[in-house]
Amino acid sequence: MRVLVTWASPHGGTAGIGRMIGEELTSRGFDVVASRAKDVSSPADFDAVIAGGALYANRWPAELRRFLSRNVDILRTLPVWLFSSGPLDDSAENGAIRPPAQIAALTDRIGALDHVTFGGRLEPDVKGFPAAAMARTHSGDWRNGESIREWAADVAAAIPTAEPGVWHEQPGRSFVRWVEYPMVGWSVLLLLLLALAAFASTTVTVVLYSLAAPAVFLMLAPHYFKAPGSREPLPTAILWTAMVLVLNVVASSLIDGLTTALSGVGLWLPLLLIFVTTLVIGFIESTLPWPKDADVRVVSEA
Ligand SMILES: Cc1cc2nc3c(=O)[nH]c(=O)nc-3n(C[C@H](O)[C@H](O)[C@H](O)COP(=O)(O)O)c2cc1C
Repeated sequence: MRVLVTWASPHGGTAGIGRMIGEELTSRGFDVVASRAKDVSSPADFDAVIAGGALYANRWPAELRRFLSRNVDILRTLPVWLFSSGPLDDSAENGAIRPPAQIAALTDRIGALDHVTFGGRLEPDVKGFPAAAMARTHSGDWRNGESIREWAADVAAAIPTAEPGVWHEQPGRSFVRWVEYPMVGWSVLLLLLLALAAFASTTVTVVLYSLAAPAVFLMLAPHYFKAPGSREPLPTAILWTAMVLVLNVVASSLIDGLTTALSGVGLWLPLLLIFVTTLVIGFIESTLPWPKDADVRVVSEA
């Protein structure tokens, strides 16, 4: 049987785990392809897939997220196992670690059979910020070869009879929902702008509008990102900001009296603040541990 073991590993530690898993499976007679996610064109020709990523601020590298999202339809038809590598202490050895929201959502979206977190590695002479700064206090190798091989052996035993897991379509991901939020935010802000433009000076209008814009998105963004399957923070921040920009340009060309307020600083400062607010909230929400009562399976704890 053909098994794909793939990973995203900015500093090589997770790649080492992937190779260990690959070796264990090979020793048990499987035909293994072990490769970084970027180099895998498709998982279609495999009977099972094992995919893992390093944790950085509780998130997987984009390389792995893209691989999984791009191939979600194929992965739903295969038995899939996922792993993360991160903790630079012995916490991974002391019981299952609850996956962060982003990873739990992907696990559920694919219908992966298991997700496990192994210890990580940070070399003392690692290059680049912030890894090098962190290495001053946290370097070390917490990958436990025995636990990794044991887990790989369990997976190897399961593969011949494994069925694809149960996946869930995530309403939080819908395109309509993605564009609804900025529409609501922009509508609220437009009403405020119309009121301000009618009763206040241009300076007061610009100042209050620039304060209100991030405040409105500060209320909307947590609600959007909390739903399982919500889109990634960066594309969301770009889309939402672009939508508000386009709608503001249209509004100022159609409604007399908005042109002055929605030009120069009045146009760009609120947009910048909406972008930053959405990005930061999205990032924070995606790194939080999955809520205990969420409707998602955390198979490794079952
Ligand atoms: C900037 C930075 C952020 C990190 N954030 C996390 C984290 O949120 N959770 C975690 O468990 N490990 C975290 N780690 C530890 C890494 O996940 C660990 O070093 C891992 O083994 C790196 O894998 P790689 O060598 O494949 O890149 C972080 C490390 C660095 C340098």
